[in-house]
Amino acid sequence: MRNLITSGLRKLVKSESRYSPGSRQADVVSIATVKGGVGKTTTAVNVAAALAADHGKRVLLIDLDAQGHCSASLEAVIGEGDGTTMVHEILLSDDDLEILDAAVSTEVDGLAVTPADPGLADAEGRISQKIGKELLLRDALKVTRTHFDLILVDCPPNKGNLTLNALLASDYVLIPTDLSPLSVKGADELIETVLTVRERLQHQVEVLGVVLTRVDGRTVKINENIRQTIEEAWGELLFDRHIGINTKIAQAQLAGEPIFDHAPKSRGARHYQNLAEEILERLDDN
Ligand SMILES: Nc1ncnc2c1ncn2[C@@H]1O[C@H](COP(=O)(O)OP(=O)(O)O)[C@@H](O)[C@H]1O
Ligand SMILES: [Mg+2]
Repeated sequence: MRNLITSGLRKLVKSESRYSPGSRQADVVSIATVKGGVGKTTTAVNVAAALAADHGKRVLLIDLDAQGHCSASLEAVIGEGDGTTMVHEILLSDDDLEILDAAVSTEVDGLAVTPADPGLADAEGRISQKIGKELLLRDALKVTRTHFDLILVDCPPNKGNLTLNALLASDYVLIPTDLSPLSVKGADELIETVLTVRERLQHQVEVLGVVLTRVDGRTVKINENIRQTIEEAWGELLFDRHIGINTKIAQAQLAGEPIFDHAPKSRGARHYQNLAEEILERLDDN
């Protein structure tokens, strides 16, 4: 199974011209917030896997965080061989490179991912010198998005140039947060950034929703105040489904595989399946 999806796809693309368009038109969804450790990568990886495995979607997961945790979280199922160019090289190149050139396939049918790219740390500053510095990722997805149904972009935990590139390339943004005050503040800052992008850069990226992650039943009472505050502030932006704290989720990440492969009957697996369904419903409604 390894390499089947993307390599087949890449051959198809390369047999005619370098990048011939496919017949799809992916929705691009960034997973972003101004805070680390809240479950962005875990959500990106498991939602991507659920959409591919359970819903038959062709999904590309782009890792824009220099820490490279997406591919680490998929290490046990990731293909080898493809992915000839690093994401930061594609973004910084003056040639018409496409993210497709970075993608590697996985053993999860329909799921491709970009590999860890430590060069993204350095790219954050170098991007500033480019003309149209916020539009580099959008440009590099022109053809790529015609080969997928969904593209998820896992962002670094800040509002830097890479996150801005993700927002400008995206139709939607999905904001994970736990119930700690600093995480909630981080989510709120990201919503503000989205509004600024919409107003100042005239790009109509929508907040698909805020999803509560790492929800701990034992501390729900302590967090009740925060919960009420965010329900009032975010209203319908809050996803109905949340992700509970579940050690199987962390173990799956360590084992380098989606929760559905690692512990298919776990609460974590069920929660991510439910979230993936709600994401599809929200995308369909738009
Ligand atoms: N629902 C959860 N239950 C238990 N552990 C979780 C859960 N979600 C995330 N984690 C763990 O929390 C840590 C941070 O998650 P991660 O997705 O890497 O956050 P971020 O990408 O926002 O920095 C990781 O070790 C991950 O395994
Ligand atoms: Mg992360």
